[in-house]
Amino acid sequence: MTATLLDGKALANQLREEVAEKVADFIENNGTVPCLAAVLVGDDPASEIYVRNKQKACERVGIESRLHRLSAQTSQDELLALIAKLNKDTSVHGILVQLPLPKGIHEKRVLDAVHPLKDVDAFHPENVGRIAQGRPRFLPCTPHGVQQLLVRNGIPIGGSHVVVIGRSEIVGKPMAMMLVQRGDGADATVSICHSRTRDLPAITRLADILIVAIGRAKFVTGDMVKPGAVVVDVGMNRTDEGLFGDVDFEAVREVASRITPVPGGVGPLTIAMLLENTLEAARLQAAGG
Ligand code: GUN
Repeated sequence: MTATLLDGKALANQLREEVAEKVADFIENNGTVPCLAAVLVGDDPASEIYVRNKQKACERVGIESRLHRLSAQTSQDELLALIAKLNKDTSVHGILVQLPLPKGIHEKRVLDAVHPLKDVDAFHPENVGRIAQGRPRFLPCTPHGVQQLLVRNGIPIGGSHVVVIGRSEIVGKPMAMMLVQRGDGADATVSICHSRTRDLPAITRLADILIVAIGRAKFVTGDMVKPGAVVVDVGMNRTDEGLFGDVDFEAVREVASRITPVPGGVGPLTIAMLLENTLEAARLQAAGG
């Protein structure tokens, strides 16, 4: 079997068109332009590209984007002061602090400082708690993109065994939490695997849907996948040989039924979901929180 591709790029285009229409309606009804403030600390080249792409995507759908660039020498207190200012600024609806932050800055301390109603990454403990309880305010961008990719391609999730490799706060944990909830696009049986999992291939071979987010190039090989499974690759590993996902694409595509390419799979969806969350943040603030 050769898997068919799950085209994240095409879906992201469609989602962006949908957001653009909703943004135009919002502006017409409220007289306010949704605004995202992106905070970039230091000069990590990959982060620069991600932030630029996020800003471009905002502008294309009618969302204002403001970039706050701070040097790698910025202190934690200076960063916290900027976040406090953005929290108070009523013209800013969403705040995104690009990760990773330079060494010496306590990431959780900074993310906890973002006002929960402006937390378009859904990293604040209040928003994570709401997701865990099945009453989300914002959904985290990458897991939400993956969920939409599955739902809009008609891949059954309810009752399926989803195996997530990776337990990060950004992808693995929230992904598992979202798919185990009751309701449409969820109701899955979920296993979370990680670096300490014993006999990983025995578990991944049980997956109807295998979601991989561990940050190791070509980690998942063909023998780790059940024939006919759906494989979603969240990895973006820049190596000397080029950009690779966490999945050995050429080998796994001969075993799986559906597979995401890298690039062009999950990446573009993450940005589309950020736009959705920024609009939602503007709505929440227009409604008085
Ligand atoms: N760095 C890598 N992924 C992300 C993300 O989803 N949000 C932010 N803010 N930074 C990231």
